[in-house]
Amino acid sequence: MLDNKKYALSSSFLWGGASSASQFEGAANEDGKGATILDRKKGHGNLADFSIASDFYHHYKEDIHLLADLGLNSFRFSISWARIFPNGNDEVPNEKGLQFYENVIDECLKAGIEPVVTLYHFDEPLSILKQYGGWTSKRAIEDFKRYAALLFARFGQKVKYWLTFNECNFVLKAPNNFTGKEVSQHNPDFLTYKYQVFHNFNIAHFAVVAMYHAMKLPGKIGCMLAAVPTYPQTPNPLDVLKNQQKNQSSMYDFLDVLTQGAYPANLQALFSREKCWPEISLEETALMQNPLSKMDFISLSYYMTGLSSRNEQPFDPNASNAQNAAKRLINKELTISSFGWPQDPVGLRIILNELFHRYHLPLMIVENGLGAKDVLTEDGHVHDDYRIEYMKRHILEMEHAIVDDGVPVIGYLPWGIIDLVSSSEGFSKRYGVIYVNRTDHDLKDMRRIKKDSFYWYKHVIATHGQDLGDD
Ligand code: BG6
Repeated sequence: MLDNKKYALSSSFLWGGASSASQFEGAANEDGKGATILDRKKGHGNLADFSIASDFYHHYKEDIHLLADLGLNSFRFSISWARIFPNGNDEVPNEKGLQFYENVIDECLKAGIEPVVTLYHFDEPLSILKQYGGWTSKRAIEDFKRYAALLFARFGQKVKYWLTFNECNFVLKAPNNFTGKEVSQHNPDFLTYKYQVFHNFNIAHFAVVAMYHAMKLPGKIGCMLAAVPTYPQTPNPLDVLKNQQKNQSSMYDFLDVLTQGAYPANLQALFSREKCWPEISLEETALMQNPLSKMDFISLSYYMTGLSSRNEQPFDPNASNAQNAAKRLINKELTISSFGWPQDPVGLRIILNELFHRYHLPLMIVENGLGAKDVLTEDGHVHDDYRIEYMKRHILEMEHAIVDDGVPVIGYLPWGIIDLVSSSEGFSKRYGVIYVNRTDHDLKDMRRIKKDSFYWYKHVIATHGQDLGDD
């Protein structure tokens, strides 16, 4: 049962939706775009690849029009570095790529929608991997700075919200996903590799944030955290300790560095113990401490929570998703989605409180939602009451955090607002309130169809989150 409190959020609250270039745009080889490490995922299993995706590249006007009809005042998308610099560091940028994003931004602004732009969503240009090993090298920092500088100069007056790297704390879990490399965790240099890549991303973040602030642009810039908090499986102090360590290494190590401008004591101890200190120059230390490098807000994705136990088997970055999922401890207090993801709306309120009390920065939820197998009925409807239920409960907990707990959450932008390619399950797992009429194997007509959740979310936005519907 939902409780019967009703909250109206302020009119400046960002009600939105989110996407990423590789999973949404398609046109992977068009108009001069270079290849990314994600293009190598082509044909994995029987799932859709990223080459056409939802074809936002050719449907952007219609899609933004639909988002405006939904009542959104914000839309998160990412810019593909390889669409701007096909090789990551070409002498001249690809004007067609810049023009595409300029069109998208202008179309959003015309529709009263604030663009929320991610600079990098997992899609390293393949060429920088080939040229110098990508993010394992500090050259990636310089190339990324040049890319970001160009975007700030071109779009900085129009875009008010920028995110640096999507879910960069996952570098600590699966660095290969960010580098396109295949370094085994059994490799004796694995830790050195992992923390050097982590450090390189951190320095790129600091450098870009400092540059943005130095340019005195009229907007804000923040990081993006994958928030997957865990609870101890039992009150046994060893489980509680394990849980503390797990949350520290999966989320707080990352945020501690970015907010404090220094590696936290536990990481410094680990670097010394395991002899895996990243190379940190004096210049980099100064940059980390520079007040201009301090970000303005923290954005996060939140889908689920997990459990920690002193007896659990460690996550294996070299194992498949299914193998790692099979090891996951089950929280019997929670329901589980058809794709095996635990659903924990109250966990959202808990992590929002936790993040704010630790870091004292505004928070923006830039991913949340239910991935499900939707069915298009013969008469052209998608009855996704399960998604409405999921979103309703999460929005309510967010409202409790804002109104009852005083946490400054500035936006809610659920994931894959228009169906896109799930990174793990292709088109068989959909998140949108707008259906895209294609499957993994059949492009059909790519028609956009409003799901039942579209009408529900539209009403929520129109009432500023006050009317979440009957329970
Ligand atoms: C986030 C990513 O981790 O989760 C998205 O930023 C991703 O890119 C989303 O799509 C949902 O995961 P999945 O595997 O269901 O697509």
